[in-house]
Amino acid sequence: PAERPLTVAIDGPAASGKGTLAKRLAVVLGVPHLDTGLLYRAVGRRVLDAGADPADAAAATDAAVALVPEDLSRADLRGPVADAAAAKVASVPGVRAALLDFQRRFAQGGAVLDGRDIGTVVLPDAPVKLFVTAGLDVRAQRRYQELVSRGGAVPDFETIRAEMAARDEADRTRTAAPLRPAEDAAILDTSDLDADGALARAEAIIRWKLGV
Ligand code: DC
Repeated sequence: PAERPLTVAIDGPAASGKGTLAKRLAVVLGVPHLDTGLLYRAVGRRVLDAGADPADAAAATDAAVALVPEDLSRADLRGPVADAAAAKVASVPGVRAALLDFQRRFAQGGAVLDGRDIGTVVLPDAPVKLFVTAGLDVRAQRRYQELVSRGGAVPDFETIRAEMAARDEADRTRTAAPLRPAEDAAILDTSDLDADGALARAEAIIRWKLGV
């Protein structure tokens, strides 16, 4: 099926390495990349701009419907405020429904999408699905290092670890598109892999899936 556009669906928890992997895979495969977490972050920001509560389902859905591509390049999509707003709007079914079309259209000519529900909901027919994961301690350590390298105030490791565990739990147990591997996803545990190692494993999985 060489003519089928190559779509790769990547899901996994925070700091699993899925974002870095998705970016690098897209370059290797020559297709565009969409970090779908940015969509939820941008929706959260729009709700805050409107002076509304990100947990307000109607306000969040309005913001998702009004989202424009330029919102994805805002400079204020990272950090604790954006994290919390994104997590809240992500649990609103109307928000998820409003973002579905954009994600599917993006993937049409081949793409790498990474998020939480790409293989299960957004692109259930993707020919390649990866579920990227790593142990909680490893992921918390990565996030800690990332914050340290950015400079500024850094919470202590235990706080980061506890917040990450809480966010994992919220992502896994929410009723709208919970985080879980698609039945046909290959599990890629990056606990003992660096970015190059994860990319090599992913390429091997893709070759095997596509029979090349
Ligand atoms: O990957 P991230 O941290 O940028 O994601 C931000 C939030 O959006 C996070 O709470 C999980 C949620 N999310 C989601 O529910 N579905 C996606 N496809 C991507 C992100």
